[in-house]
Amino acid sequence: MIGQTISRQSKQTIANLVQKRFSHDLIVSPKTGRTIIRTGGGGRSSSNGHVITVFGCTGFLGRYLVNRLAREGAHVIVPYRDEDDMRHLKVMGDLGKIVPMEIHLRNKDSLEAAIRHSDTVYNLLGRDYETRNFSFSDVHVEAAGVIAELAQKHEVDRLIQMSALNATVDSPSRFLSTKAEGEQLVRSIFPSATVVRPSAMYGQEDRFLARLAMSRGLSVRINGGSTKVRPVNVSDVATAMHLMLDGKNTIGETFELVGDKEYTYKELLDYIKETTNLDIGDLNVPKPVASLVAKAMNLLPWQTLGADEVERMMIDDKLTGAKTFADLDVQPSSLEITGIQYLRRFRTNLYNDEPLPKGTLNKKKVFHTSYL
Ligand SMILES: NC(=O)c1ccc[n+]([C@@H]2O[C@H](COP(=O)([O-])OP(=O)(O)OC[C@H]3O[C@@H](n4cnc5c(N)ncnc54)[C@H](OP(=O)(O)O)[C@@H]3O)[C@@H](O)[C@H]2O)c1
Repeated sequence: MIGQTISRQSKQTIANLVQKRFSHDLIVSPKTGRTIIRTGGGGRSSSNGHVITVFGCTGFLGRYLVNRLAREGAHVIVPYRDEDDMRHLKVMGDLGKIVPMEIHLRNKDSLEAAIRHSDTVYNLLGRDYETRNFSFSDVHVEAAGVIAELAQKHEVDRLIQMSALNATVDSPSRFLSTKAEGEQLVRSIFPSATVVRPSAMYGQEDRFLARLAMSRGLSVRINGGSTKVRPVNVSDVATAMHLMLDGKNTIGETFELVGDKEYTYKELLDYIKETTNLDIGDLNVPKPVASLVAKAMNLLPWQTLGADEVERMMIDDKLTGAKTFADLDVQPSSLEITGIQYLRRFRTNLYNDEPLPKGTLNKKKVFHTSYL
């Protein structure tokens, strides 16, 4: 009897060892018929079978996306310009899984080398401002077109192209109009590309909440602070983009990824003021003055608020009926709940000397950790 039990158990163990793969571990590309086979338990030391190129991996969103892809064992090609900008990405995956490749947008061969072996390409390339070397059009249109052409040439299964919410060809903002041109060009070359249009993204090291909080007394309201925005957590965008990797309902679709709630700039400034106790300025500056000051500031050798950004700050966030987080079963996080993580560092020591709110038992000056 005991012998029978042991032999049944050992048979089961052997069966488990032999049957390492299941039907859901095999993905057949609907486009190329290429098979992608998962092996291992699903962690960073296993393999999900994908070879993925993430252009723009050295930016803000890039690190969140590479982290998600690498931790489930994908081979991730990380194209970079400056070696220092990609070092933090190397530790996100197992040994040899993160493959850095130097590129230059005007060197097609370098772009081709980064795409050649991949089954999926994410194009996150983008810039908030123009530089002497690269215009908006160079990055958002020409480079996007070359990447789409190369992806088509090398029979890449999935191309996920990053655009921006409110991108229209006739937008007064060059950033947004070139993003829309880029979308159209990419779609004309690679029709099954997925286009992602996020609103302003916030998170650690963002250029949205941090910039508003950092500007302290210099923070100004443009458009009377009445422009409506729906900031989205960068982590939610990375989650959605990760799901697009194998999500069949995302092929050839456009996704507009926005936060759970709409705010005016004034409401956001008030929220930052309340959360950090910073003396955030409340001066309304007319658009022509703001544009002029921004143009003058752009002569400085470091990055400042650009004239095009002033233009964007006048445009309300609008959804056009494309797919959203709901189609990916992702619930966007609330800025009012998660924002404290990113804003806490802007609090001054004076914050802790504030009296506790009414009704709090201890009337002494204490650290306000109890209510964040
Ligand atoms: N952040 C937002 O709130 C927001 C909102 C809507 C849409 N988007 C779009 O979403 C994408 C990712 O956003 P992000 O905030 O992560 O952008 P980001 O931090 O500015 O990163 C942009 C990436 O593009 C690369 N890049 C830009 N110009 C390049 C050039 N001439 N040659 C080579 N590489 C170049 C950068 O490389 P280097 O590191 O070498 O500079 C970086 O890896 C972008 O396309 C952006 O336009 C962002």
